Amino acid sequence: MTALLDVRDINASYGHSRALFGVSIEVGRGECVGLLGRNGVGKTTTMRSIMGLTPASSGQVLWKGRDITPWQPFQIARAGIGFVPEDRRVFSDLTVIENLDVARRASQRPGPWTIEAVFDFFPKLRQLAGRRSGFLSGGEQQMLTIGRTLMCNPELLLLDEPSEGLAPLVVESLLQQVSNLKRQGLTILMAEQALDFCLDLADRVYVLQKGAVRFSGPSSALRDDPGLREELLGLAPPVT
Ligand SMILES: Nc1ncnc2c1ncn2[C@@H]1O[C@H](COP(=O)(O)OP(=O)(O)OP(=O)(O)O)[C@@H](O)[C@H]1O
Ligand SMILES: [Mg+2]
Repeated sequence: MTALLDVRDINASYGHSRALFGVSIEVGRGECVGLLGRNGVGKTTTMRSIMGLTPASSGQVLWKGRDITPWQPFQIARAGIGFVPEDRRVFSDLTVIENLDVARRASQRPGPWTIEAVFDFFPKLRQLAGRRSGFLSGGEQQMLTIGRTLMCNPELLLLDEPSEGLAPLVVESLLQQVSNLKRQGLTILMAEQALDFCLDLADRVYVLQKGAVRFSGPSSALRDDPGLREELLGLAPPVT
């Protein structure tokens, strides 16, 4: 069967500085796949290359078997890939509901996600509907960024370090929410440095080192093998 997303041997650079060295990743429909690795190994660049924001200089990105490598980011979004970037770029002068409305107007894809559906999914956002987004907490901004991306009715969600900088209790509720999205059948590719968060959600993981895939396998392989975790991520503590 054709993978929903098939990244084949891509290279990518920033100017003369090479960031990806032949990265290959597959994501099947309904899967939640984790992209792990330390700072600067190329997790964000991989996602940016999939989105066409840092286009691959060679290799291919196939979406449902179709080569989207040369496509513009807006075309890729319209084809059904939603990107939640690391830096949670909400429009800080706009209210929560205005941010969602901007996404609604930009969305070209029919589907179940309306503003009401996002509020049902993140009830906290309904309470904050009239608040300027610049005054939201980090966790609330993360919900808004995810909600805004869902408004485009993606089939695949790229989540770049969703738990970064959030307090443990907030991470716990985010984990529940991402897990609910997964249960609803959304396909997810998630970059994370928080190993527990990633292993709790992901069916399979890829570990990057220096812009290349060093390991791919089921999450359980990393969970059950401290030596492997140490080798790939430099993390010795047991995963609970
Ligand atoms: N805009 C940029 N210009 C030049 N080099 C960049 C740029 N963005 C990233 N890089 C470099 O590309 C490499 C991969 O970075 P990338 O952001 O993809 O890593 P990452 O795994 O997402 O790291 P982190 O966990 O810190 O988010 C790093 O060496 C980084 O310094
Ligand atoms: Mg990153």
